[in-house]
Amino acid sequence: MEGSGPIRVLFVCLGNICRSPLAESIFRHQIRERGVEEFFEVDSAGTAAYHIGRPPDARSVATAKARGVTVDGSGRQIEPRDLNRFDYVIVMDGENLADVERLERRSGGRARIHLLREWDAEDPGTDVPDPYYGGQRGFEDVHDIVERSSAALLDHLLEEKSRR
Ligand code: 4NP
Repeated sequence: MEGSGPIRVLFVCLGNICRSPLAESIFRHQIRERGVEEFFEVDSAGTAAYHIGRPPDARSVATAKARGVTVDGSGRQIEPRDLNRFDYVIVMDGENLADVERLERRSGGRARIHLLREWDAEDPGTDVPDPYYGGQRGFEDVHDIVERSSAALLDHLLEEKSRR
């Protein structure tokens, strides 16, 4: 593979404590497993400021740990310059999409913004449900959704890279 610099991918949800840290961690796990980590830079952020500096939600961490994925980091809010810095901003739901698109218009950024579930073959283009106020089952479901969507997103990005 060749090309110019890493592909920069930012995962975004509302709080940056449940879904987007999980998506970031699962994607990191998958690029490591596939031996392509050197081609990527990965981060996550929230549209809201509620949880800046906080660790990821313990329920996301525990669900992922049981499946061999480490989730860490601390919450941060998306900034206008992220839309210039990242090639792809991958959002979890329609509300995130509207918020990030609005930020991009204001910032003049050029990131490509997509719903993660555009790559979910089982239910394409839907939201990754917010598990924050629900029970353990919600976190298990979110993990499954993110895992399969992220794997297909990675296929897509590698395929696109091979054509560059
Ligand atoms: P996330 O979940 O967007 O997946 O990180 C949430 C976390 C916190 C809140 C909402 C959703 N909250 O309202 O505090």
